[in-house]
Amino acid sequence: MRAEHAWVIEALDALDHELAGHRAGGPGRSPFPVATVRPLAERLAREFAAHTSAEDDVLVPLLAGGLPDGPSYVRQLVAEHAELRAMLMAFLATLGLPASAKRDEQLAVQAQDFTALMRSQIRKEETLVFAIAEKQVAKGASAHRTPGRPVPREAPASRPRPSKGEPQ
Ligand SMILES: [Fe+2]
Repeated sequence: MRAEHAWVIEALDALDHELAGHRAGGPGRSPFPVATVRPLAERLAREFAAHTSAEDDVLVPLLAGGLPDGPSYVRQLVAEHAELRAMLMAFLATLGLPASAKRDEQLAVQAQDFTALMRSQIRKEETLVFAIAEKQVAKGASAHRTPGRPVPREAPASRPRPSKGEPQ
């Protein structure tokens, strides 16, 4: 999931770069780069939907049981994922509108809002959510071990087995 975040951050950087180029042109002088941004936004929408669905299915149960305020925290996390998906869908819908200065300004605002919220959500997940989830996984793994017994290791594969009649 951290690797997926790294890819999302790269995509956000690319989107911010396009947005900065558009804004640098000045109002009405530089059309929004729809041809470059649309495939990026479409891929983001696909990958982000799969990513958040995995997070909602895997992280939600871990967090819900691992924090005193887990259920409310989880509701907030899931709501943010839904909001980000909706923002991306709205952005894609605006990208499909006929070209105009009004559409371009709307695209610039939507892109800026989306990248800001997405970056903030990733920071929150990486600093808090993943750390808690990893602790929960570690706790679960240690709970499955018998106390006082070492962690079992696999027997060497080449160890010869005594044949019948041989002293053991
Ligand atoms: Fe995430």
